[in-house]
Amino acid sequence: SSSGGGKRRLGPGGGRALLGAVLLCVWWRAAAERVRYTIAEELGRGSLVGPLARDLGLSADELPARKLRLSEEKQYFTVNEENGNLYVNERLDREEMCGESATCSVSFEALVHNPLNVFLVTVAIEDVNDNAPRFLQDQFQLEINELTAPGARFYLGIAEDADVGSNSLQGYELGTNENFAVEVKESQDGSKFAELVLRRALDREIEQSFNLVLTALDGGDPPRTGTAQLRINVTDANDNPPVFAQAEYTVRLPEDVPVGSTLTTVRATDADEGLYGEIKYSFKKITEKSSQTFRLDSDTGAISLLRSLDFEKSDSYELEVQADDGGGLFHTAKVVVTVTDVNDNVPEISVRSALSEISEDAPSGTIVALLHVRDKDSEPNGKVRCSIDGDVPFRLEKSYEDYYRVVTARELDREQVSEYNVTVRAADGGSPALQSSAVLCLRVLDVNDNAPVFAEERYSARVAENNAAGALVLTVRATDADWGQNARVRYRLGEGRVRGAPLSSYVSVQAETGALYALRSLDYEQVRELRLWVVAEDGGAPALSSNVSVEVQIVDENDNAPQVLYPAPAAALGSGSGGAWSGVELAPRWSEPGALVAKVVAVDADAGQNAWLSYELAKATEPGLFRVGLHSGEVRTARSPLARDAARQSLVVVVKDHGRPALSATATLSVVLAESVAELLAEMGSAADEAAAAAGEPAGSLTRWLVLAVAAVSCLFLAFLLLLLALRLRRWHRQQLLPPASGALRGVPVSHFVGIDGVRAFLQSYSHDVSLTADSRKSHLSWKPGTGKCSFQFTEK
Ligand SMILES: *[C@@H]1O[C@H](CO)[C@@H](O)[C@H](O)[C@H]1NC(C)=O
Ligand SMILES: *[C@@H]1O[C@H](CO)[C@@H](O)[C@H](O)[C@H]1NC(C)=O
Repeated sequence: SSSGGGKRRLGPGGGRALLGAVLLCVWWRAAAERVRYTIAEELGRGSLVGPLARDLGLSADELPARKLRLSEEKQYFTVNEENGNLYVNERLDREEMCGESATCSVSFEALVHNPLNVFLVTVAIEDVNDNAPRFLQDQFQLEINELTAPGARFYLGIAEDADVGSNSLQGYELGTNENFAVEVKESQDGSKFAELVLRRALDREIEQSFNLVLTALDGGDPPRTGTAQLRINVTDANDNPPVFAQAEYTVRLPEDVPVGSTLTTVRATDADEGLYGEIKYSFKKITEKSSQTFRLDSDTGAISLLRSLDFEKSDSYELEVQADDGGGLFHTAKVVVTVTDVNDNVPEISVRSALSEISEDAPSGTIVALLHVRDKDSEPNGKVRCSIDGDVPFRLEKSYEDYYRVVTARELDREQVSEYNVTVRAADGGSPALQSSAVLCLRVLDVNDNAPVFAEERYSARVAENNAAGALVLTVRATDADWGQNARVRYRLGEGRVRGAPLSSYVSVQAETGALYALRSLDYEQVRELRLWVVAEDGGAPALSSNVSVEVQIVDENDNAPQVLYPAPAAALGSGSGGAWSGVELAPRWSEPGALVAKVVAVDADAGQNAWLSYELAKATEPGLFRVGLHSGEVRTARSPLARDAARQSLVVVVKDHGRPALSATATLSVVLAESVAELLAEMGSAADEAAAAAGEPAGSLTRWLVLAVAAVSCLFLAFLLLLLALRLRRWHRQQLLPPASGALRGVPVSHFVGIDGVRAFLQSYSHDVSLTADSRKSHLSWKPGTGKCSFQFTEK
């Protein structure tokens, strides 16, 4: 008897789908109102039932917006969309719909949208006398013994009328006859049956049989009738009637008893012999429905099932069985069949309305679906419990009666779960319980709630200088957990300046790929590193963004040759001799091995190995006389100069860095070896002439200038010498006057350094060390290039 078992999938279904589309902005009103109408049965299609919209309080204006709909399983009624009246959709037969029950009504829901509300509409259907009484058999036969005393009663067939109340069967009539009358009796269940009453004794010899017409009447106006033929045969005497062992048989059966099984067996006995003792069983007083359900074996008295029982349609039957002997005597007994409920109906879930999409920021408690559940079984088999399968963020709320709504239990996150199949399960209270389920498919719509995230916390890259413009430096990458446009990441460069110029003139970021390109060739000597921000922004509205710091280190290359600062380049002295560097140095002939003659000073604009310089002597007039410190650049005497060494020595020093490949520069020094000031001046003169000649100047002018300068220095120096002597004498004299702590000049340091600022201005044009000889004493006047300090050293031999 169960039909709607198994799963019910949500599908497009007329009004339900329509309702689903608008449910998002729905309030649920928990209380439902009821409307009740009464109509007569058999009304034609289109007959007015009542003004439903008006009765629900809807005005004609708001009717189109509110979308009044009916939710019926069978379309008995329709509602007119324009005026909101309820009409009959198909002819209604009360007997077909409700059978024998005294009242008959149809209930259904009227759904109103914006906001959603449900009304319960009940239409009561009243009976019309549209059925005539009808006998189950149209011929009855009675055997009446001639000895039967007047007043004896005989059961006659029962007639049925499908109508109820006054339209139902009211009485029976028999055609005029002196011997017989008919009397109407009412049985316990209220049905009326006819009994034949013998009014006068019969005489088989006078009249062997009678043919009469039995008429059944109902109470309608006008009344309807049904007839049956009644034939009465008068028989010979028969003393003993059959007798049933029990006056009443009661049978209790579960509704799922298989068809064909024997329910019970009735048994009667008759004391007569032969034909008068032969018993035949038959149903007396049986309804049409019962006669289709039960079968009585006329010989054995076994009652068996012709078709399956259904507790939900009928829970008890009352039958009357009669045992007839061959002599016309009979006895009746009652059989009461009670049907018990079996859990044979699956709970049914119907989805009245459901969303298919929900935004991930929908607040907790948003209604997702409206369900109706029911079970045709009676308690406790029909008590339904509903639940939602699995750990999903949804819960069930009981709305009213058998309605439930599915609501969100918390906020959803599309980045975690983008789609839900919510299984709602309904189980009844039977043992074992039956259950069914419905699946709601729900897609979660994206909201831009995630900012792009860079793959790395910070980026750094190293780029060799002198790169090609447009070279790829590195690629940054950011991902966004959102979907579609909300996850479309675009990159751009953050604001910034490098050496006063906008950062965007140095590098650019490709918006789509995040590739960072150098826009120009970078120079380590100008910019050591670039610090910048790259911003990633998604396509949402409003957009979300994040940034990452990028550090680009520029790596040095050996692209600068060493630059000689001292000796000054020849080009600086005169018109360029090109790349070579030269100068004139003075060295006393009494120099000891290792005495400092000059220092070559060079710098390199590169860094590290590329700027690490080494000095080598490439060429010398007298090989072995001088050596150059590999890293200091100091030119020192390797041995004491000998008399045979030429007075003028020329040295070429190569300065090299350690880059790959190495770059170099050369410096040329002229060294003058002299014994005395006079020789020095002569040699210097010729050396300067040579230098001037190398510079392309007339030799005479330079010589004159030099002789003048040296003579001036010598005079000045002599004046200082005298002054110093005077000072020393004065001090010695004072020490002689005061008692000395120890020896006369013992405490005086071996050498004195006296700074003479006044000399500086005079000596500024010099860039030479000048060594002079004064008899056995050596004094050393030096001016350190660049420091602007002049010092005078006096050494005692
Ligand atoms: C939901 O059900 C549909 C069809 O039944 C299936 O294609 C889909 O993969 C299911 N989704 C989830 C999240 O289980
Ligand atoms: C980068 O983001 C931080 C916060 O994460 C913010 O303070 C800073 O201003 C941003 N920088 C740029 C250049 O947008």
